[in-house]
Order: sequence, then structure tokens, then C-alpha cells
Amino acid sequence: MTYDVLIIGSGAAGLSLALELAEHAKIAILSKAALECGNTQYAQGGISAVLAEDDSLDSHVEDTLNAGAGLCDPDIVNFTVSQGPERIAWLIEQGMKFTQLTDLKGNINYHLTREGGHSHRRVIHAEDATGRAIVSTLLPKVKAHPNIDLLEYHIAIDLITGTKLGLSTSRCLGAYLLNINTDQIIAIGARFVVLATGGAGKAYLYTSNPDVATGDGIAIAWRAGCRVANMEFIQFHPTCLYHPDAKSFLISEAVRGEGGKLLLPDGKPFMQRFDPRAELAPRDIVARAIDHEMKRLGSDCLFLDITHKPKDFIVEHFPNIYNRCLALGINMNKQPIPVVPAAHYTCGGVMTDRHGRTDIEGLYATGEVAFTGLHGANRMASNSLLECLVFAHAASLDILAQLNDIPAPPPLPAWDESRVTDSDEEVVVSHNWDELRRFMWDYVGIVRTTKRLQRAKRRVDLLHNEIQEYYSNFRISNDLLELRNLTLVADLIIRSAQLRSESRGLHYTLDYPENSAIAQNTILSPSIH
Ligand code: FAD
Ligand code: SIN
Repeated sequence: MTYDVLIIGSGAAGLSLALELAEHAKIAILSKAALECGNTQYAQGGISAVLAEDDSLDSHVEDTLNAGAGLCDPDIVNFTVSQGPERIAWLIEQGMKFTQLTDLKGNINYHLTREGGHSHRRVIHAEDATGRAIVSTLLPKVKAHPNIDLLEYHIAIDLITGTKLGLSTSRCLGAYLLNINTDQIIAIGARFVVLATGGAGKAYLYTSNPDVATGDGIAIAWRAGCRVANMEFIQFHPTCLYHPDAKSFLISEAVRGEGGKLLLPDGKPFMQRFDPRAELAPRDIVARAIDHEMKRLGSDCLFLDITHKPKDFIVEHFPNIYNRCLALGINMNKQPIPVVPAAHYTCGGVMTDRHGRTDIEGLYATGEVAFTGLHGANRMASNSLLECLVFAHAASLDILAQLNDIPAPPPLPAWDESRVTDSDEEVVVSHNWDELRRFMWDYVGIVRTTKRLQRAKRRVDLLHNEIQEYYSNFRISNDLLELRNLTLVADLIIRSAQLRSESRGLHYTLDYPENSAIAQNTILSPSIH
């Protein structure tokens, strides 16, 4: 099987890229589970873009730089922000229905909400389920396009490069995939391969991310020889629902944007003590404040209160959150919502330039998997979907400009399974999954110390060796591949955190509580161990 472009991932980045390329190229899109399984489907708050008359590109740039705590790349921030309005127009052209409201004069306008770090209302949204609306707008178009093949329940194992095959080119030539339903392993060749595999929230015990967020693209790119950057900056969302039956349900930052207040168990507000912007301070500050208060009080959760708003307002703005909470016995119109922070977003990732190109020729990365320089030490709310759209578009232009010059890949060797047998102890995999996610939460979480990082490093090294041995001896499965990737990504997070002898943005360590004078990215290279 050979394609012009193999896109690994069917979230906002993968779907928008495919649609931009499909008139000119034959595309395959892979998803390791159902096509709607990624983080995109669960996005709530919206997409940030300068759309209001009283807003400006300079203001969006400044807010992004402030949230990023000195580590954003200003050129990339300018580039991304300036493309925002055009990308939103593109989504509307595709049929996306953003929420509209009628003002007092009877004019109908797109409603813009506010979120942490934004000095203006600039988050365009589809009620409180923006991601679901993106997927349900783009996916039918992708499914109907004759140039796009969809491979659901196919997990990419590793890339095939000229270097690995001992050819004279180092170019990326395709990938090996496991068909999860049949256990068959196939090779797909492509002129261009794009990683659009999302983030790695599942490295942590508590996360807002769905099960597929296991950092596969970062691990796959690293094994193929790409550099990764800023992996220590894992963003913890301040407000995930705290309820035994609510697996990873987010309470959108837009609830705070529309007036929600954070409260201690005794009903007292506290955010003003931590930052003058209170509930709308950037996420790192709010999550740390909640963590601090929970530990100080020995409390299992804190509370988010929006009961002062009329019921109609709550139901109109947050129908998805309202109904989900109600189904769990929490009426957010009458009582504060119990909340806790959880791992939410991977700010670091595979290093790319402004066209989405990685270190390997023919290999691109776009969306949450990539490190573009936009987010610095802390991503500002709703800048992620914007990044997906802007860099998918940039990558599409770059790929189309070269399409006719790149020859089809040569025939690729079949996967070699001659030295492996069926596993006799699947329990090793499930046990190691649990262990990894627990020690990452305990030792590499919101507040870190040098000692905790050392403990985590010792454990991840042990797991890494055990999983490598298992991988070499037994037939692969989806769980094993994900665990192998997650362990590698956890190792990259720990190593990056150990290299940062300061506190900045999302990386906070009690041993170095101050910023250093010079802000530097943490860049890890597979060739330097
Ligand atoms: P994803 O949407 O995560 O898609 C990843 C895809 O890769 C999936 O199709 C998956 O199957 C596939 N995949 C992964 N590994 C493999 C493999 N090995 N082989 C084959 N396929 C693979 N951001 C905002 O800007 N605004 C918001 O309001 C917002 N709200 C959010 C709410 C929640 C609950 C969460 C979790 C995130 C939110 N974010 C938000 C972040 C944002 O949703 C994500 O960063 C973004 O959707 C990522 O899109 P993506 O296309 O990069 O990846
Ligand atoms: C949210 O709705 O709070 C999530 C927004 C984001 O992660 O950007």
C-alpha cells in the first residue's frame, strides 16, 4: 500500500490537514481506535482568535507570551495568532456552527467567551463542546472524499526510514502498522508521513485526556531520530470533575470565564491571595493554588461555584457540562461543583519548524504532538486547537509545493516476527501501566523536587528495561505498544525536568523555586544519551 501522504491521527490536526491536501494527493488517515477517539472530540472551551473589534493581534500575542513565561518563540506566536481569523473562516466554510447570540439591538454575532490569561473575549466556541462540533463537521467530509482512505483501529508501531533500511537517503518512507482487529502487521509507504497523534496525558494517573493519549507520536519520532523539546511542561487543568463515576470529565475554564468562583470547602474564595487575576490567572498559577490549598487543608477536592448566575444562562452556555453533572447528582445551578486538577496538555513534543517539518526529511508533526515554540512554559487556554489548524495548514502548503518532486517510496520489507512468541504473562503489561501512571502523578506532578525526580527516574529505568525485554520476546499488542511509548515519554518528561534547575511556568520545583535569569528550551536529542 502506497500513498502520497500518510497522516497518523484523526483529530483536529489530522482531519484539517487531510481536507487541505485531498484535492491534490492520495491520503491515508490512521486512527488507533474509533476516528472520534482523540483529545479533539473532548475539547470544550473553544478556539482563540482575534475576532472582536476591541481586540487586537498584538494583545493576543502579548497574552500568549505572558502565559508562556518567557519561553514562547515570538515569531511563531506572531505567525500563529495572525493566522487565527483566517483559520476560523476556513472552519466556518467547512460548515462549522459556532455559537451565535443576538445582542440588545437585534444583531446576531458569534459569541466569544473568556478564559485564563486572555485579556479580551476571544474564544469562539460551539456551546461547551467545541471539539465534538469540529469532528462532526470535518469527519463526514473526510469520509466522503474519494482521495482519502480511513484506517480505523490501526496503530502505528514505528516509522520506516532510509536510515533504518541502510539506503543512501535518510528520508521517512512510511510506517509499520498493527491492525488491532486482526493482529496483522503491514507496511505502508508514503511520500510524506505526518504525525498528528496528540498528547500524552495518560502518563499520569489523573488526566482529562481520553485513553488514546499515550504520546505515541513523540516516542515514534524519538526512536526514528527526531529531537524533542520542553517535555517537562505538562499542563494540569485546574478543574476536572471530582466524582468516583466521572472518568476524566473536564469543567471548562469558560465556566470561570463567565464568572465561576473557586471556593475552599468552607465556601471562602481564595484565588485573589495567589494572583490579582484570581480565577482568570493562567492555568499553571490556578492549578498550583488549588494543589497548595488541597494539601494545606488535607482536602480531596475544592469547589467551583457559578450558582449566582441564572439557570437559563448556565444551561445556554454549558449544556454539556450541566447535563453531565446533573446525571451524576450535581446540580451546578444550585450547588458548587467539586473539582481537582488533572494532567491535561503536553506543551513539549517533536521539534518542528513553522511548516511542521521535523528533523527527518519527509516527516512532519502537527497538533499536540509537536513542539512549535507557540506555548513556551505554559499554553494559554484555547491556543491548542488554533495551533492544530494553523500548522496543519502550513504543513499542507509545504507538502503540496514538493509533491511532484518526491518519488514514490521503494518496496518496503515486511515486519519480521520470526523471533517472537505469544506472551504468557499479559499481567506484566497491565501492572506496569498502573505503576507508571501512579509514580508520574506522585513524583513528577504539579510540585516537584530533585529527590522525587530521582525516584521517578530509577523507576522508569527499571520499567523501560523490563518492557524492552518483553517487546523483544513477545508478539506485540495495542496495550504493549502504548505502554512502551508511554514509558519512553515518561522518561523524556523526567529527564527534561531534571535538566531544568529553576521554576518556570508549568515546571515548579521546591528545590529551585525562582526563575533563572535566562530562559532556555530543554532540547533532548536521541543521538546524545
Ligand atoms: P487528537 O485530537 O488527540 O487526536 C490524536 C489522534 O491520533 C487520534 O485519532 C488517535 O487515534 C491517533 N493516534 C495516536 N497514536 C496513534 C498511533 N500510534 N497510531 C495510529 N493513530 C494514533 N484545546 C483548545 O484549544 N480549546 C479547548 O477548548 C480545549 N479543550 C480541551 C478539553 C479536553 C477535555 C482536552 C483533553 C483537551 C482540550 N484541549 C483544548 C486541547 C486540545 O483538544 C488538543 O490539544 C487537540 O485537540 C489535539 O488535537 P490533535 O489533532 O493534535 O490530536
Ligand atoms: C477548557 O475548556 O477549559 C479547555 C480549554 C483548553 O484546554 O484550551
